[in-house]
Amino acid sequence: MKTALVTGITGQDGSFLAELLLREGYRVVGMTRRTSTDVHERIAHLVDDVEFVSGDLLDQMSVASIVDEVAPDEVYNLAAQSFVPASWRQPVLTGEFTALGVTRVLEAIRAVRPSARFYQASSSEMFGKVVEVPQTETTAFYPRSPYGVAKVYGHWITVNYRESYDLFAVSGILFNHESQRRGKEFVTRKISDGVARIKHGLTGTLALGNLDAKRDWGFAGDYVRAMWLMLQRETPEDYVIATGRTHSVRDFVRIAFETAGLGSYERYVTLDPRFVRPAEVDLLVGDASKARRELGWEPEVSFEELVELMVRADCDRVAAELARV
Ligand code: NAP
Ligand code: GDD
Repeated sequence: MKTALVTGITGQDGSFLAELLLREGYRVVGMTRRTSTDVHERIAHLVDDVEFVSGDLLDQMSVASIVDEVAPDEVYNLAAQSFVPASWRQPVLTGEFTALGVTRVLEAIRAVRPSARFYQASSSEMFGKVVEVPQTETTAFYPRSPYGVAKVYGHWITVNYRESYDLFAVSGILFNHESQRRGKEFVTRKISDGVARIKHGLTGTLALGNLDAKRDWGFAGDYVRAMWLMLQRETPEDYVIATGRTHSVRDFVRIAFETAGLGSYERYVTLDPRFVRPAEVDLLVGDASKARRELGWEPEVSFEELVELMVRADCDRVAAELARV
């Protein structure tokens, strides 16, 4: 039985990845940080199957002793401060988690478990003000937020440890991926949650920022499969994971309101400058040909299916909450 250590297991991707690894017969160990309340709703259904260890990416000793004690075959580093606007408010902390945190995990592996295979959660946000369309593994980075800058560091330190110490360390450059488990501050879930609340009469408006930004959005369940496939290869290499289709925030909004039977979004959506960013990533679209060719990876859920599944899940959840009240 192989052992996988997952940092960020309480996040959206951590929950889908843990499910996949359990299905594949792994012993799954999740690193969580101590909080005063124990709210881990995304992995509540997995608590009997996953082992939990307490650690923090800010604390080198805790990471090193976890890697030593768990003796993982595979390490998935998903933990990060992952919300882009927060990275302008807390740039130094974002750098500590999202950039130096990667080095702490790599250092632990190098020192006590160099045979472990390492996955780093890199991001299309590294392409930022894109220098070519679509973006591939060789496209130059031009990050537009402290988060993007931190991810560029995490990406290159992964490449550097692979080349310096011969570690099996890979970086998945993943484009936006969403689900019913997405945090509610991200635009897709903010929209599906807002639509559900409007549908059930809890509010009458949804305040958003830039409706013209474009993203290449996929389904998180499809994307964690790519992470796992990257660590099953003979040689460590980096891959872009994307659908190759791009849509605007406005497209997402329009389909979401139609799915809920609310008609035109224009009656409900207001523009709020608080949600407009100091620097924007206008157009992300990825070319995942290398992953298709070498990993046999294909996304299975389309953009339209993604919007519908998120809106339906939130409508059902809000209805159930109201019924309980
Ligand atoms: P998420 O839902 O925000 O989850 C982030 C996870 O990191 C949570 O489990 C969080 O734990 C943990 N974490 C944060 N700071 C930590 C620290 N100092 N020590 C230990 N754990 C810490 O993010 P996600 O959407 O699942 O994304 C997973 C990873 O992929 C992130 O690195 C993200 O930057 C990257 N990524 C995401 C996307 C996307 O579209 N989703 C695309 C490209 C890359 P708590 O529960 O304790 O807060
Ligand atoms: N969050 C948010 N809230 N975004 C809004 C809003 C709003 O009210 N209105 C418009 N947007 C626009 C943002 O300006 C941005 O262009 C786009 O919606 C997507 O924003 P997010 O959903 O917050 O995601 P992101 O693209 O900034 O970052 C996500 O994807 C990255 C991969 O490219 C995160 O998951 C990152 O962790 C990830 O690396």
